[in-house]
Amino acid sequence: MPLKRPPAKLCPLVAVFFLSLQCMIFRAAAQSNGKSHPWMNSSLSPDERASMVVKEMTLDEKIQMLHGTGMVGLSPMSPLAVHSNGGAGYVVEIPRLGIPAIQMSDAAYGVRMSGENGRYSTALPSCVGGAATWDLDGGFEYGALIGHELRAQGYNMTLGGGVNLTREPRNGRTFEYMGEDPVLAGKMVASVIRGIQAQHVLGDIKHYALNDQESGRNAVNVNIDKRAARESDLLAFEIGIEESNPAAVMCSYNRVNGDYACENKYLLTDLLKQDWKFRGFVLTDWGGAHSLAKASAAGMDHEEPGWIFYGDDMKKAVESGTVPEAELDDHVHRILRAMFATSVIDDPVQRSVPDVLGGLEVARKFEEQAIVLLKNEKSELPLDPAKVRSIAVIGQHADIGMISGGGSAQVDPPVGNAILPPGKGQTQWLEPVWFPTSPLKSIRAKAPGAKVQFDSGADPASAAALAKNSDVAVVFVYQWESEDMDLESLALPENQDELITKVSEANAHTVVVVESGGPVTMPWADKVSGILEVWFAGSSGSDAVANVLFGSVNPSGKLPLTFPLSEADLPHPTIVKAPMESRPNFMQGEPWKQIAAGLPAFQVNYDEGVKVGYKWYDAEKKPVLFPFGFGLSYTTYAYSNLKVAPGKTPKVTFTVKNTGKRDGAEIAEVYACLPPAASEPPKQLVGFSKVPLKAGESKEVSIEINPKYLSIFNVEQNGWQLVPGEYNFMVGGSSRSLPLQQTVTLN
Ligand code: BGC
Repeated sequence: MPLKRPPAKLCPLVAVFFLSLQCMIFRAAAQSNGKSHPWMNSSLSPDERASMVVKEMTLDEKIQMLHGTGMVGLSPMSPLAVHSNGGAGYVVEIPRLGIPAIQMSDAAYGVRMSGENGRYSTALPSCVGGAATWDLDGGFEYGALIGHELRAQGYNMTLGGGVNLTREPRNGRTFEYMGEDPVLAGKMVASVIRGIQAQHVLGDIKHYALNDQESGRNAVNVNIDKRAARESDLLAFEIGIEESNPAAVMCSYNRVNGDYACENKYLLTDLLKQDWKFRGFVLTDWGGAHSLAKASAAGMDHEEPGWIFYGDDMKKAVESGTVPEAELDDHVHRILRAMFATSVIDDPVQRSVPDVLGGLEVARKFEEQAIVLLKNEKSELPLDPAKVRSIAVIGQHADIGMISGGGSAQVDPPVGNAILPPGKGQTQWLEPVWFPTSPLKSIRAKAPGAKVQFDSGADPASAAALAKNSDVAVVFVYQWESEDMDLESLALPENQDELITKVSEANAHTVVVVESGGPVTMPWADKVSGILEVWFAGSSGSDAVANVLFGSVNPSGKLPLTFPLSEADLPHPTIVKAPMESRPNFMQGEPWKQIAAGLPAFQVNYDEGVKVGYKWYDAEKKPVLFPFGFGLSYTTYAYSNLKVAPGKTPKVTFTVKNTGKRDGAEIAEVYACLPPAASEPPKQLVGFSKVPLKAGESKEVSIEINPKYLSIFNVEQNGWQLVPGEYNFMVGGSSRSLPLQQTVTLN
């Protein structure tokens, strides 16, 4: 018999074998070549090293650095994309020069798509929960865990680092950001980026700038005056960038004052690269590029995910002189410099097995700090496991899981979505994913002597009946959020308001646990005895919540954003949506091409200006449900002895005392009211400190105030300016509870 050809299905295996062999040779060559190159001398500065490499590069190699290798449905795909490691972006290596690939993954609250790639990653509490800890050392740990898991999975760049202000709380990405205040958000994102970069992973801050709503994000033009922008959204970026030196800044999809962010000279060059002296590179959001020469001259360095503009067309533009060679070299230099500065070249990624249990513990501890106790009538909480005999655990999926944030931030749960058959992760875009962290199990573990029963709440009457026969009812409610959508309203979906109302009518001991990405309205707030905001709680969420419910942990989180009473109180009662002509038309070809060509703009006017969040409610004298900076504890704190030492860097000193019977940690907040001539909102956060205090303990706290936080932005002089006059410093435990005040003159 003639020899049969090997079965066809063996061929791919053989191909994979050769491909891997080729890759190994390729990578080995990269490393051995690398060692002998003069730029591998790590005693040289990143700039010197980058300049040496740029001099050696061919035009093709330079162009290759300026773009990714494509993504299905978004741009042309390179055959090299198979080496992309399953991440969102891949920049091809240059072995002859010892330059490794850049492997990018989204990693807002953990590494994305790990399940889909057959890997595992920890889901930390959502970023807004991170901000609720007000703990900058904790932020570093948050970033360090993400950086560690990125490297373990073969990535050397994160696409996390979202710091858009919560100007519009219905923004579907509120959970990915750090709240409404530029000082808190900027400092927190910087801590996270420092933690990531300490692991030798390229950090990224996004979405630059004013991408404060998802609706119509590829077409919207946001209008805002320069001073207001500098003192609000842009200040968060300014602080984040100056305090962390990120490798990259991702320009956003939207237009700002007329120009797309990714070709906006004011944003990218005048501000970011000149005024802020940013030394890293600007990469586009995915499909955020709209031009070649204009974008290049404006300061966009790198196009993702493919090369609509920065590939062959860029090469021609450089050859013809439309794009000067020096401009091209600057783009490349910035990318290489960032790679040297973050040590991704000196310390190439080594894959490793993640420490799953270690990650779960970090996630739990972080969530314990992030939880905000919003209401605790008659000290309903903590529950005493020795006294409580029966507990009703109520709420959709509260028997098996907790909700997580969606979109490109989505982290995959182990064994998939808890509410789908095992093995399935997110099966489609905009599908809510529940993590297998079971409130019911965690509560049962904490109260082994109590009868703990579950009701999904699908029928409020049946849930109320269970509540009636229990000592306590704990109702888990949720509001899911994702990229690519905004919330229609801040109200809880799916009849959950009615559920809470019915349960609270049946049992006066009702505690509500809110899983959300941002504020929700609470028409039932007066009827329940306890409320916890637990955000999207991450891999170990239910244990953290149970630890707070039963008092093993004393809550210390404070709100990084205001909970308004109703949407009518927001600066914009409704979100402006894209008109039909500003949306891609599927009948007219591939959407990404229409987006790249530029969809007709529609306008959103941020005429509230600097008055974001509490600054708006304060200025408008609007009552709120829960103010910015608010959060209760199982103990109490008292503030005294304020002393403000004026000077170039004013120093605010005061005493905080734990006046209760439990150990705790108080987040002390310092606000300033600027002189009337400054025309600023009534107050702004200028400093904070998280103070651990044993029961009965007092500590003196001293905070040096960065003069920039006390300044206004002077547009004519293009700089920060301290307005001479009387400054009222206010200190306390929330933006609306500031018992200490002192006025000093600053010049
Ligand atoms: C998001 C970015 C993300 C990118 C890559 C975009 O849709 O806006 O935040 O990093 O996709 O996944």
